[in-house]
Amino acid sequence: MDLLLLQKILLALFAAVTMAILVSKIRGKRLKLPPGPFPFPIFGSWLQIGNNLDHHILADYAKKYGDVLLLKMGQLNVVAVSSKEHAKEVLLTQGVEFGSRSRNIVFDIFTGKGQDMIFTEYGDHWRKMRRIVTVPFFTNKVVQQYRREWEAEAAAVVEDVRKNPIAATEGIVLRRRLQLMVYNNIYKIMFDKTFESEEDPLFVKVKETNGDRSKLGQNLKYNFGDFIPILRPFLRGYLKICKEVTKRRLNLYKNSFLDNRKKPSSTEGMNNNSSKCALDHFLEAGLKGEINEANILYIVENMNIAAIETTIWALEWAVAELINNPEVQTKLRAEIDTVLGPGVQVTEADTHKLPYLQAVIKETLRLRTIVPCLLPHMNLNEAKLGGYDIPAQSRVLVNAWRLANDPAHWKRPEEFRPERFMEEESKVEANGNDLKYIPFGVGRRSCPGIVIAMPVLGITLGRLVQNFELLPPPGQSKIDTTENTGQFAMRILKHSTVVLKPRST
Ligand code: HEM
Repeated sequence: MDLLLLQKILLALFAAVTMAILVSKIRGKRLKLPPGPFPFPIFGSWLQIGNNLDHHILADYAKKYGDVLLLKMGQLNVVAVSSKEHAKEVLLTQGVEFGSRSRNIVFDIFTGKGQDMIFTEYGDHWRKMRRIVTVPFFTNKVVQQYRREWEAEAAAVVEDVRKNPIAATEGIVLRRRLQLMVYNNIYKIMFDKTFESEEDPLFVKVKETNGDRSKLGQNLKYNFGDFIPILRPFLRGYLKICKEVTKRRLNLYKNSFLDNRKKPSSTEGMNNNSSKCALDHFLEAGLKGEINEANILYIVENMNIAAIETTIWALEWAVAELINNPEVQTKLRAEIDTVLGPGVQVTEADTHKLPYLQAVIKETLRLRTIVPCLLPHMNLNEAKLGGYDIPAQSRVLVNAWRLANDPAHWKRPEEFRPERFMEEESKVEANGNDLKYIPFGVGRRSCPGIVIAMPVLGITLGRLVQNFELLPPPGQSKIDTTENTGQFAMRILKHSTVVLKPRST
C-alpha cells in the first residue's frame, strides 16, 4: 500500500470517529448532573483532589457544592451524600436502586469480583448469601447462644491483665489482648474454635494474614488505578502482592478450617456432637447446591474483616475516649456499681439495664464513626437523586461521619459527651431510626453485625471499667487520638499503651 493511500485511510478514520463523537454528543441525553468541582478531560478532579478521598474532604466539598455532589475522578463518578433527606433516599426509599456495591481494583481481587456477600451486587446472589449468613450469625438466638462465651472471654481479659504487674505501672498495649478476645468471640460462632493465647501459632498466622489484607485494602494510594485505568501498570507490583495475600488467606481458611469441618470422621466434623457452627451451615448450603466452595471461602474472608476489625477498632476508640474523659469513666463505673452492686460482673442481660454504658458506646460510634462513608453503594442503572441525574455505576458515598458530626443537627458535636444520648438525643438509637446517626448504616445493605457488636462492646467495656481504672501511660496526660483514615475505615493511628490499675473487689 502506498504511503498516500495509508494517509488518506487514517484521515478518513479520524474524521469518522470525530463525527461519531459529535453526533452522539448532540443526540445524547443531556444529564442534569449534581454540582461539583470542574472536571478536566481524562483526569476529572483527580489532579485537584488526589487519591486521599476521605470523609473530611467530602465534608469540605459538601459545604461548597451542597448535600449531593459529583466528583468526576477520572473515569469514576463519585457521588457524595451529606444530608439526612438524601441519605434516606439512597439507603431506604431507593434502597434497591442504590443497593449495589462499588468495588475497586483491590477488592475485586479480595472478593473474586463479588463472589462474596459484602461487595456483591444487589440481586439474587446477595439475597441468597445474606439469608445463608443470617441464621448462624445475626439473630437474637445466636446472641443468647454465645453471650456466655463473650462474658467468659471478657473475664479472661480481666484476669490476664490483673496477673500482669506491668499493666498497672508502665501500661500495656491493651489492643493486643482485646484482639485475641474478639477473634475468639467470632471464631467460636464461625468455626466453633477459640485460641488459647496470643502465641497460638494458628492465631498468629490468621492475625498476620488478615493484617496484611487490611493494610493493602485500606491504603488510599491505589485509588488512581480506578480513576485513571491507563495508569494501572504502575500498580502491577501492588496488585501482585494483593493476589498473593488473597491466595494465602483463602488457602489458610480452607486447609485449617473448612477441610477439617467437612470430614465426617473428624472430631471437628459437622456430623458429630461438637456444636454446629456457622461454617457447618455454609457447608450445608453448599451441599444443597445453593453456593459453591469459593462463595464459602469468601464469606469467611468477609467475616474476618467486617466482624473482627470493626469491633476491635470500636473498642480501641472507646478505651481512648474513656481515658481522655476521666469524668465519663468515673460516671460509668458509678452506674455499674449502683445498678449491679460492687463486684457483680456485667453480663449481656445487664447491658440493657445500663443506659450510660449504652450512651458511651453510641457516643464513641458517633464521634469516631468507624466506617465513615459506609461501604460504597452503587446504582447499577442511571438514577435520580435530589433532582439530579446520577450516571449508572456511580460510587455513592453516604457521609455518615458528617451526618453524625454536623453542628446543624448536634449540640457541640466535637465534644465526647455521652449525656447527649440520655438528654436531647435520647430517642436516637444505633439502628438508624434517625438518619443523622447511622454508624451501622440502615436499610437493605446495613450492618447485620449490630446484633453482635453492641453486646460485645457493652460486656467488654463494662468489665474493663468495673475492674480497672483506665489511665494514660506515665508521663502522658492523654491518649493520642490521631485518626488514620483508609478506604473504608477510620482507625486510631497509634495503638497506645494503657495503664490498667486494678480496683479492689
Ligand atoms: C456492613 C459498620 C461490626 C458484618 C457494614 C456497614 C457498616 C458497618 C457501616 C455498611 C453499611 C452500608 O453500606 O450501608 C459496622 C461497625 C461495627 C460492625 C461500626 C462494629 C462496631 C460487624 C460485625 C459483623 C459485621 C460484628 C459480623 C459479625 C457486616 C456485614 C456487612 C456489614 C456482613 C455487609 C452487609 C451487606 O452488604 O449486605 N458494617 N459493622 N459488622 N457488616 Fe458491619
